[in-house]
Amino acid sequence: MLLLLLLGVVTSRCLHDETQKSVSLLRPPFSQLPPNFRSSSFTLSSSGEPQPLRIQTCYTGDPTSDGAWDLEGDGMRGRSRALAAVREATQRIQGVLAVQGPLLLSRDPARYCHAVWGDPDTPNYHRCSLLNPGYKGESCLGAKIPDAHLRGYALWPEQGPPQVIQPDGPGVQNTDFLLYMQVAHTSKCHQEPSIIAYAACCQLDSEDRPLAGTIVYCAQHLTSPSLSHSDIVMATLHELLHVLGFSGQLFKNWRDCPSGLSVRENCSTRQQVTRRDKWGQLLLTTPAVSHSLAKHLGVLGVSLGVPLEEEGPLSSHWEARLLQGSLMTATFDGAQRTRLDAVTLAAFKDSGWYQVNHSAAEELLWGQGSGLEFGLVTTCGTGSSDFFCTGSGLGCHYLHLDKGSCSSDPMLEGCRMYKPLANGSECWKKENGFPAGVVNPHGEIYHSQSRCFLANLTSQLLPADETRHPSQIPHLKEVELTGRCYLHQCTERGAYKVQVEGSPWVPCLPGKAIQIPGYYGLLFCPRGRLCQTNEGTNAVTSPPVSLSTQDLLFQLSLGLAGPPGHSLGKEQQEELAEAVLQALVSRGGSGRCYFHSPSITTSLVFTVRMWKSPGCQGPSVSMLHRALTLTLQEKPLEVYHGGASFTTKDNQLLVTSDYNPSMTHLSLTMGLCLMLLILVGALGTAAYQKRATLQVGPSAPYHLPELHNTRGPDGGIREV
Ligand SMILES: *[C@@H]1O[C@H](CO)[C@@H](O)[C@H](O)[C@H]1NC(C)=O
Ligand SMILES: *[C@@H]1O[C@H](CO)[C@@H](O)[C@H](O)[C@H]1NC(C)=O
Ligand SMILES: *[C@@H]1O[C@H](CO)[C@@H](O)[C@H](O)[C@H]1NC(C)=O
Ligand SMILES: *[C@@H]1O[C@H](CO)[C@@H](O)[C@H](O)[C@H]1NC(C)=O
Repeated sequence: MLLLLLLGVVTSRCLHDETQKSVSLLRPPFSQLPPNFRSSSFTLSSSGEPQPLRIQTCYTGDPTSDGAWDLEGDGMRGRSRALAAVREATQRIQGVLAVQGPLLLSRDPARYCHAVWGDPDTPNYHRCSLLNPGYKGESCLGAKIPDAHLRGYALWPEQGPPQVIQPDGPGVQNTDFLLYMQVAHTSKCHQEPSIIAYAACCQLDSEDRPLAGTIVYCAQHLTSPSLSHSDIVMATLHELLHVLGFSGQLFKNWRDCPSGLSVRENCSTRQQVTRRDKWGQLLLTTPAVSHSLAKHLGVLGVSLGVPLEEEGPLSSHWEARLLQGSLMTATFDGAQRTRLDAVTLAAFKDSGWYQVNHSAAEELLWGQGSGLEFGLVTTCGTGSSDFFCTGSGLGCHYLHLDKGSCSSDPMLEGCRMYKPLANGSECWKKENGFPAGVVNPHGEIYHSQSRCFLANLTSQLLPADETRHPSQIPHLKEVELTGRCYLHQCTERGAYKVQVEGSPWVPCLPGKAIQIPGYYGLLFCPRGRLCQTNEGTNAVTSPPVSLSTQDLLFQLSLGLAGPPGHSLGKEQQEELAEAVLQALVSRGGSGRCYFHSPSITTSLVFTVRMWKSPGCQGPSVSMLHRALTLTLQEKPLEVYHGGASFTTKDNQLLVTSDYNPSMTHLSLTMGLCLMLLILVGALGTAAYQKRATLQVGPSAPYHLPELHNTRGPDGGIREV
């Protein structure tokens, strides 16, 4: 379960499953269950509804294995980056996967016990008769598990009651999964310098659902600037999904649960999870993934297994030829090019342990609608799909964020695709552009809204050549089509216009080649690749923003005015929060991906956090935030909900900028266990509490927006 970094042309050997194999999976022996112990899957919340998955992160700064990492300077920085990434990854997944119950981990008798009573006729048969003097407690992939998280253990005489050596710990309340994390320079990190992080699951519950696991980050990647925060978040999410059950060694434990059941009482172990097809390709064959892949390829009704990467007898990753860009392929080539896709989420439904929020799936462009023959070794070289290429020319990566060269890697088994160049290929990075004053014969523009286009444009205004006819210019004849960076702007779904240096905006007709005023040659407009979501429509044309401001975090609070005497139940609060968010999203003309954890208080103060999720397309968060505060000042937001009208009071627009949760936890000391309780916010507890009574008032005509447009004496925006 190692995530390898694959950037540009660098390829790495894969070592998946090795880590998981090195860890013995513990599950509670039934005799050890204390009478009032609530197994994680036998209980129901009072309403019987699933709760968002509650992951507690425990930072253990004291690796029991190799590779202590210095805590000064770089070590500190690496750790805070890892913490911030874990926090964001667990937050992202908590609204996606849901289970029930609290948690106490098991001890491994093989570790603490040296001998057991061997006479079947004695009452304490098979109980521990001799302790292992060297027992140092339990650990998970090198991370020490605190006694508080563990059951106790005892020494048994041949007859009679035990001598308790260590009583049961209190366990961990309100938690479904314990995630231990370490930042270290382990021998694995040393041997494979491309490994960002690796992880293993250590304990299962009585229904085989993973209960605890550890992520080890290789320290050198956290301190190097080559990985962005989004990259580390995506890498963390990848590892997290492995330890939550997407693992070759856990597939056999997946459970078949009658559909619609939120309780696991009628689940059984799945008869078949993987099989090999007639060409020897390993497939994951469970129903939800098969359906999801068929839907993705546009062949609904066909029952396909989902091919897994060739990694030995077991495999923990999707076949890259078929699901390039999915979070769960074996190599990671940057957050920008990685998606938490529907097929991956379907796998978690098939595990039988989770309820999946499918609306969290991100669109995977690779292979979309490409049919049954897509991604086969036998078809990828025939030119039947433009996701693949032949030869070794230059073009555009399929997401069009990068220029690429036609090449292969071990995961592609001879198939070729345009892979980002080793350096400077990102069209969306301004710093890859030409310094002022340098000749830019092809009119390229590098900008956050630039994309790669296949083109052979050449400026008609080249010095010395400008008086001649194109056919007389020797080098123009040789201009071949290649990937070039130009500015784009979505006009509507699937439609966009482009701009070349010095040119006006020109509509780009998907699938057609267009001419650009001032240039010889053509620009090819890709079909089905750009502006596929409504995100980013009309979001450009403002001055370019530097990328470094994109990771900033903001918090936006809005006071709302509703009908007099109107009170909200918990559930209505949540619905209203979502309605306000929708209005905010459409007002901002941006994606939902900028907004996180919306909530609303009983006194009608709406709060939402803003940062730009990986894969989110559009302006920087600071730009969006600025635009939103300005437009809300000009015109309040009006939201109709439950038959009533709510309006933002602009004198209560509170904007907290530079809100930075990762800084909150920097003061940790070594060995201190950090409990980042992943808050079950409005979408969790609130959603499932008993419906409070609510009198929904009629729409109140006197709450027209105009009435609220007058500013208070100290009105306007307060920056706090
Ligand atoms: C499901 O996911 C969507 C998209 O991420 C999110 O907006 C929604 O709040 C989630 N639902 C729950 C119940 O968490
Ligand atoms: C679950 O199993 C029990 C006993 O086997 C059975 O009575 C019950 O009808 C089953 N429930 C569902 C929803 O299948
Ligand atoms: C990319 O790398 C090559 C060789 O390593 C170098 O010649 C070239 O200048 C680099 N290009 C950029 C844009 O950094
Ligand atoms: C650009 O490419 C097209 C298509 O290959 C070709 O017909 C045209 O002559 C090229 N134009 C220039 C200026 O090279």
